[in-house]
Amino acid sequence: MRQPVRVAVLISGAGSNMAALIDAAKADGERAGGASHEVVLVVSNRPDAGGLAIAASKGVTTLTIDHRPFGKDREAHERAVHDALILADVQVIALAGYMRILTPFLVRSWAGRMLNIHPSLLPLYPGLDTHARAIAAGDDEAGCTVHLVTDGVDEGPILGQARVPILAGDTAETLSERVRVAEHGLYPAMLGEFCKGR
Ligand code: GRF
Repeated sequence: MRQPVRVAVLISGAGSNMAALIDAAKADGERAGGASHEVVLVVSNRPDAGGLAIAASKGVTTLTIDHRPFGKDREAHERAVHDALILADVQVIALAGYMRILTPFLVRSWAGRMLNIHPSLLPLYPGLDTHARAIAAGDDEAGCTVHLVTDGVDEGPILGQARVPILAGDTAETLSERVRVAEHGLYPAMLGEFCKGR
């Protein structure tokens, strides 16, 4: 049987997508045929990220590499992250609410091996405040996108999308809750498919 692909999840906050990725990989591993991948490491750039405790409670190794001591030197911070990933034999990165703009160093080091989830139907609404922007535009649907990470922010080949309706009276908060549920289905499915195809 093939060894599961070793995945690291990079987070900055609550880590609900990260939790979904860990749970799905474990469930996959319990099925006949075994897991296509395994989450072996969770890295946060923020020591106070809520997701760290969740990952630890699920038995996944966690690591905080605080970006603040690196000041404006984004690449130096990324080099520290990269070294940790290499040390852990990581093969694929899943960004999950990792709130850092990446430099070409990390993007190119992991080209074709780094996925991200974005809470909009890209190419619509790259960047922040996606739900408020979709509501303000009068859209009747929103959603989320899993894509490969390339140099441009929220660009890169799309691996999959999930759509949800925008309902009358939706606020950015209510819409984000609905999209988040879709994210928790889409991201594990896309990561699994991606790792199976490697
Ligand atoms: C999600 O909405 C994701 O699409 C975006 O950041 C948010 C992370 O949420 N990239 P969580 O930390 O996974 O709960």
